[in-house]
Formats: sequence, structure tokens, C-alpha cells
Amino acid sequence: MTARRDDQANEGYQHRSVLLDAAVDYLVTDENGRYVDATFGRGGHSRLILGKLGQDGQLLGIDKDPEAIAVAGELASGDSRFQWYHGSFAELDLALERQGWSQVDGVLMDLGVSSPQLDDASRGFSFMRDGPLDMRMNPQQEPSAAQWLAEADEREIADVIWRYGEERFSRRIARLVVERRQEQPIETTRQLAELVAEAVPKKEKHKHPATRAFQAIRIFINRELEDLEAGLAAAVDRLAPGGRLVVISFHSLEDRLVKRFMRDLARGPKLPKGIPVTAEQEESGFQLIGKASKANEQEITENVRARSAVMRVLERKAN
Ligand SMILES: C[S@@+](CC[C@H](N)C(=O)[O-])C[C@H]1O[C@@H](n2cnc3c(N)ncnc32)[C@H](O)[C@@H]1O
Repeated sequence: MTARRDDQANEGYQHRSVLLDAAVDYLVTDENGRYVDATFGRGGHSRLILGKLGQDGQLLGIDKDPEAIAVAGELASGDSRFQWYHGSFAELDLALERQGWSQVDGVLMDLGVSSPQLDDASRGFSFMRDGPLDMRMNPQQEPSAAQWLAEADEREIADVIWRYGEERFSRRIARLVVERRQEQPIETTRQLAELVAEAVPKKEKHKHPATRAFQAIRIFINRELEDLEAGLAAAVDRLAPGGRLVVISFHSLEDRLVKRFMRDLARGPKLPKGIPVTAEQEESGFQLIGKASKANEQEITENVRARSAVMRVLERKAN
């Protein structure tokens, strides 16, 4: 394991995978099975999955980001068990159709942005680095954050920042955006970060005032919660008996959605009270595996991103 981490560093991969071993241990139940890494990133999880798979095992890596897919392409050229799909995991059905796979033995989702996306100022995700205000995981899709902020009305901006950032000063921020963009277009991350800092009257300790607004705009621009809902539904539909869905989320909006989705499936169908039902009708076809897991202190010390990670696992019961 240590050797693998060193390899990643030596090859210059800048993303440190969160809950790497635990997620892959839960995911891979059959070394000759078919698996999907729905958020390939820099392939940290994918490499470990491939390390666990036998010669007949297969892995499909999906990512929205062309830079991630370029790394996936390199991996595919050296390992015939691995293939890639460029697009959203919300298109899982299409991705699997292309593979000719009707079922899979496991799907992994390690949500959110990767460190390379955050660290590269030109991607426009970070309030810590000045760059064009972009924030698109897939730059082939429109609008960018700057395009949207230039055109959206004040109410929509406030709604997005409230809904996806849980930012209580969302209205003040939206008002200032609309005021300032009449003087000058908001085109850089620094412009937006400074504007938000100006609009927010109360600062939280150890938190940049633009944290919530940036998170909100990123989630909105990338349709993160809509994609997650569609991706979860498609993944469980395709799970073979005994197959598992492993999801790592990084903020409460994602985790709430994942938790409810998995809990409802594990509980089984809601049946009308008072009408006789068979045991089969009552029984759910899914079960939760273990409790929600978090990174341990050592991992959090080594990787600050791990601090907010929560992993949940759902299994389609074997027949
Ligand atoms: C946290 S990183 C994954 C890191 C990866 N597990 C690793 O070990 O390198 C999340 C990745 O998922 C991608 N992503 C996020 N939402 C996606 C979606 N709906 N469809 C496909 N890829 C998505 C991002 O572009 C990013 O590369």
C-alpha cells in the first residue's frame, strides 16, 4: 500500500485519494467482476481497484473533466482491463451501454472536486488563487461561473447561494454582484472573493468569507446534486446481486441526499397500511453495509480534505 502511494507521488499525481483502502475494500467483492469508478479524478481509487482485480476483472473509469480523462487514457493504454468514459455519471446507462455491460458488481463515487482542479488557478474553482471565474468540471459545457453571474437575476443568484451554500448573507451578496457588474464584469476569482468578503458582515473563525458562496456556485454550475440523484438511481438499477454502491461525500448537502437515498432503499417499499402483503413484497432488495465511516485522525492530519469525508455503502442483496 505504501509503495502504491509513493508511486502516485513519483508520477506527479497531485490528488491524494480519501478513504482509499476502505472504499476499495468495500467495493471489490469479486476479483473477476465488473466495476465502475464513477469519479476517476487522478485514478487513485482506480489503480487500487485494478490491483485487486484478477485477469478477467474489468473497470470503467468515468469523469466529466477532460484532464482527468487524459490520465484515464494513459492508464487504459497500459492495462486492457481498464476503459474510460468522458461525461457525467448521470449518464451511467449510456456509458454501460457502450461497454455492452447490463450489470456491474460495484460502483464507486468519490464526489466533489479533485485537488488538481482546486490547485490549478486557471480552472477558476479557488478563492485562494486568482484566475478566470470558470468552475466548470467539464469546460465544454456552458455556462461558466462568470457567464452565469453576468446574466442571472438577483433573486436567482441569492437562491443559489442560499440553497447550495447555506449562506445566510446570500441576499446581500447577490445585491452587490448585480450592483458591481453594472460597473465592471465579474470575471476573476479574486474579484468575486473580494466582493463576497465585502458583502458578508460577520466573519466566521478559520473560514474564508467566500467559502460558502464559492461552494454554492460550483455545485450549481456543475449540476452536482441533480447529477448525484440521477447517478445514484442509475447505479442501483445496474447493480448485480451482491453488488455494492460506495459513496464518499464531502459536504452535508451531498451526504444528506446519499443517506436518505440509501436508507429508503434499504427500508424497502412503502406499502399501504392494513392491506395484506407477502413477505417478498415487504422485503427490501438492498441492505446498508456497516455504518457511515469517516477518515481516522492520521489521515486527516495528512490530508485536510479527508476531514469532511463521509462514506456510505449499500448492497443489492444476493438472491
Ligand atoms: C474527489 S475527485 C476523485 C478522485 C479520485 N477518486 C482519485 O482517487 O483520484 C472527484 C472527481 O469526480 C469528477 N466528477 C464530479 N462529479 C462528477 C460527475 N457528475 N460525473 C463525472 N465525474 C464527476 C470530478 O471532475 C473529479 O475529477
